[in-house]
Amino acid sequence: MAERTESGQSATLDNLLTEERTFAPSQDFAARANATADTYAEAEADRDAFWAKQAERLHWETGWDQVLDWSNAPFAKWFVGGKLNVAYNCVDRHVEAGHGDQIAIHWVGEPGDTRDITYAELQREVSRAAHGLASLGVGAGDRVAIQLQMVPEAIVAMLACARIGALHSVVFGGFSPSALRTRVDDAEAKVVITSDGQYRRGKAAATKSQVDEALEGAESVEKVLVVRRTGDETGIPPWTDGRDIWWHELMDAQPDSHTPEAFDSEHPLFILYTSGTTGKPKGILHTSGGYLTQAAYTHHVVFDHKPGEDVYWCTADIGWVTGHSYIVYGPLANRATQVVYEGTPNTPHEGRHWEIVQRYGVTLYYTAPTLIRTFMKWGEDIPAKYDLSSLRLLGSVGEPINPEAWMWYREHIGGGNAPIVDTWWQTETGGIMISPLPGVTATKPGSAQRPLPGISAKVVDDQGVEVGRGGGGYLVLDKPWPGMLRGIWGDDQRYKDTYWSRFADQGFYFAGDGAKYDDDGDIWLLGRVDDVMNVSGHRISTTEVESALVSHHNVAEAAVVGASDPTTGQGIVAFVILRGGADDDASGEKAITELRNHVASEIGPIAKPRQIMVVPELPKTRSGKIMRRLLRDIAENREVGDVTTLADTTVMDQISAGLKSGK
Ligand code: WT7
Repeated sequence: MAERTESGQSATLDNLLTEERTFAPSQDFAARANATADTYAEAEADRDAFWAKQAERLHWETGWDQVLDWSNAPFAKWFVGGKLNVAYNCVDRHVEAGHGDQIAIHWVGEPGDTRDITYAELQREVSRAAHGLASLGVGAGDRVAIQLQMVPEAIVAMLACARIGALHSVVFGGFSPSALRTRVDDAEAKVVITSDGQYRRGKAAATKSQVDEALEGAESVEKVLVVRRTGDETGIPPWTDGRDIWWHELMDAQPDSHTPEAFDSEHPLFILYTSGTTGKPKGILHTSGGYLTQAAYTHHVVFDHKPGEDVYWCTADIGWVTGHSYIVYGPLANRATQVVYEGTPNTPHEGRHWEIVQRYGVTLYYTAPTLIRTFMKWGEDIPAKYDLSSLRLLGSVGEPINPEAWMWYREHIGGGNAPIVDTWWQTETGGIMISPLPGVTATKPGSAQRPLPGISAKVVDDQGVEVGRGGGGYLVLDKPWPGMLRGIWGDDQRYKDTYWSRFADQGFYFAGDGAKYDDDGDIWLLGRVDDVMNVSGHRISTTEVESALVSHHNVAEAAVVGASDPTTGQGIVAFVILRGGADDDASGEKAITELRNHVASEIGPIAKPRQIMVVPELPKTRSGKIMRRLLRDIAENREVGDVTTLADTTVMDQISAGLKSGK
């Protein structure tokens, strides 16, 4: 194992909360790092020239005339006039450069089956899928919804869409039929791609019937492609003749070479839905040239990725943006060899990830704080059983990482030596925005630290004035960036209102996160400042869960808050007023279980409230706005704060009294 090289040699968990220690990069790492300290100054001197240089990482069929057109702000155009094919950039060009035999994907199925896919094979599969989709009438600009678990076909399907200029809309496998339907309808998807069933926690479960339920009467959907995954174990899935087609039957019949067409740099690439402050999810729209440039550049510098040497593993699901940018587009554009794992981290045992790291010699590992905290709970003796010495860099994303988890990750996974990159970004930003640069930055447990070269972010007060060192406020992005969202699908006004109205005078993008500067000027993210919760790194809006609750016949009113949770970051706590009153039998355990399941079936299991409290009233202001701050006090077992702005100041007493008496 490598020598400990950090500056804080006597690091122990005890003195952590002083938050003063820094870990300088080792000289070995720095000597070979992709990033250098000069990169900041270079980007600062001429931002457009810097991004133009980054775009040269890609193959352009036609060069661009202008790096950035911001004349119609906040609608950006990057690399104006340029043309490229995104799938060609992620697959074919590596084969043409003689790397066809390099493994692109070490795929590991949950039951233990594996598949190694080379770039040449990936090229053939993507080509067949491009022909297959085209044969169904899918063309440039059409939308394809994909709800698949982590199987190779998910990645192939995304790349095939990109290849023919169709937009994919990937829907997380854990979302319910009604959540799938909302997204299919909003994007008017022509084709839906799914599977017969999936392996989850050691069991095969049929899933196709849920997709059928979702698509009943869905007008836009012409064809449903079904990937066979569980096969005999789940039997023949329900089938709609004329609509449903087996993926393998369609694709096996297609030619395995396909000529890619170059699309405009601003050609739409995908839509990905994310929760906002209202109940309706937002279809975040990303386009081609700028997005791929930022995904490739950030994957190169933040993960210090060396093609042909590293084995990279991002544990995200393709249903989230992390899977889009750091499993599919960034790594493949950079000719990575990566692990893609289908299952849960404790199937069949709690050492599954470390067994995979050891088996494939994973060098770069990127995961979420919630999983790190889960690993901590399972105990350090589990990773200790495996050889993790191949790991040379660790990443974190999705929520603020608490210093204890950061230190545990460093010690027990990174061997006390691998740099940790805490990466802040969002579905909307397309790629990483704030992160240490490995080999350059002296890292600090819990801080994402500085905007990357080429990116500009600030912490500002209510008035949009930047706060000083030691000060806190709102995180804004004050300059456009290549991977930025180009809008919300079908709703330009909502795009402007959500992101650009809060600091309209200054023209800042409002990220929705609170942040502070420390005395060195490093940024610390403090969590959402709006009605969006972060549960295990997943964004869920309070209103979305409230709407699901009130759609149940037994619920009169509901208010939902995110309460801090030691494992998931935040947990969902719901306060409900039941019809027929709290004394009713219907307010017992059974009713609460039914409500929790109801939310799971409306949105998905990830939105299931951790706790539901039945209350007689909800705290509201005179204008009728629910004061979630007060409910959060109860959910987190704190003294209830200032109640003077409530319409009825006795409400909190009523709630507390009811809860104490167990009603
Ligand atoms: C929200 C974006 C970006 C991919 C995963 C989530 C929170 C994300 C960090 C981090 C503190 C973080 C923010 C952000 N977040 N990364 N390193 N430190 N907070 O994407 O679902 O679009 O959520 O996740 O609150 O706004 P997303």
